[in-house]
Amino acid sequence: MNTLKIGGRIRTAVFPVAGLGTRFLPATKASPKEMLPVVDKPLIQYAVEEALAAGVETLVFVTNRNKRAIEDHFDRVYELENELLEREKPDLLDQVKDILPRSASAIYIRQQAALGLGHAVLCAAPVVGREPFFVVLADDLIDSPPASGNVLEQLLGIHERHGGSVVALERVPREHASRYGIIQPEKIGERLYGIQSIVEKPDPGQAPSDLAVIGRYLLMPEIMECLEKTGRGRGGEIQLTDALGQLLATEQVLGYAFDGTRYDCGDKLGYLEACVELGLKHPQLSREFKEYLIRRVPLLEP
Ligand code: UTP
Repeated sequence: MNTLKIGGRIRTAVFPVAGLGTRFLPATKASPKEMLPVVDKPLIQYAVEEALAAGVETLVFVTNRNKRAIEDHFDRVYELENELLEREKPDLLDQVKDILPRSASAIYIRQQAALGLGHAVLCAAPVVGREPFFVVLADDLIDSPPASGNVLEQLLGIHERHGGSVVALERVPREHASRYGIIQPEKIGERLYGIQSIVEKPDPGQAPSDLAVIGRYLLMPEIMECLEKTGRGRGGEIQLTDALGQLLATEQVLGYAFDGTRYDCGDKLGYLEACVELGLKHPQLSREFKEYLIRRVPLLEP
């Protein structure tokens, strides 16, 4: 095993947004699923805000031809800004003007064909270079208690203490194992596991545990060499899970059962749950929305 590099700050986050979003059709026929709004912000903006809060400066979006709306969302729109200025709407102006701070740069790379998450991450290799980086799947919307920091900050804390790659884990019902990469864990500490092996979308009876890898990763750059060697796996796609399995042969990969709640917004039910929960927390809407739910829920029939 290689000795692990104990890392500091992570400067780059990769956002693979080139998936087809078939679980959310027809909404995702012509517009990206990452632009689905939860209350008043698109999923991708929650993901970008999380990365910026964790200290990221370079945002790498792996896109396809259907994802122009994401580029436009993070661009300035001077006509709209002037209009809001003239109409004296400073709050709205603030919300559209500085979605990306000046210190951050956004880079867009095309994934020519939807060959899988692993392939999408590999497309970012020329920008990532030889530094550790985050991978953020925006359709996993994660709400963490402020005291714990967001999930990327939690992974960074583990990386600072132990070095190496760290992936976010969540316990899932066994019958859902076939939706995730599932690890064989070795418990190291509170919420912390060494990954012994990892398997993509196992049949529930074959799953090595109930600990699933979810859409947040802090990866050492060596993952790129592993991805280059990874052939097509489950579903005919180049799987990040398979590359992580290769990385395990040469260095330790840790898993951290993050503190927070994940909403799978690539799935219609998970998306609805996120809208309710974040609506209830929204500073301007929470009171009226809660009143609506209190009126509405007793009318529900089981
Ligand atoms: P998903 O497994 O959610 O696939 O991808 P999907 O195509 O987005 O959605 P469904 O399952 O058809 O509904 C996980 C992540 O990997 C990205 C997706 O954008 C998503 O963030 N991805 C997947 C790519 O960027 N490229 C790919 O070729 C596949």
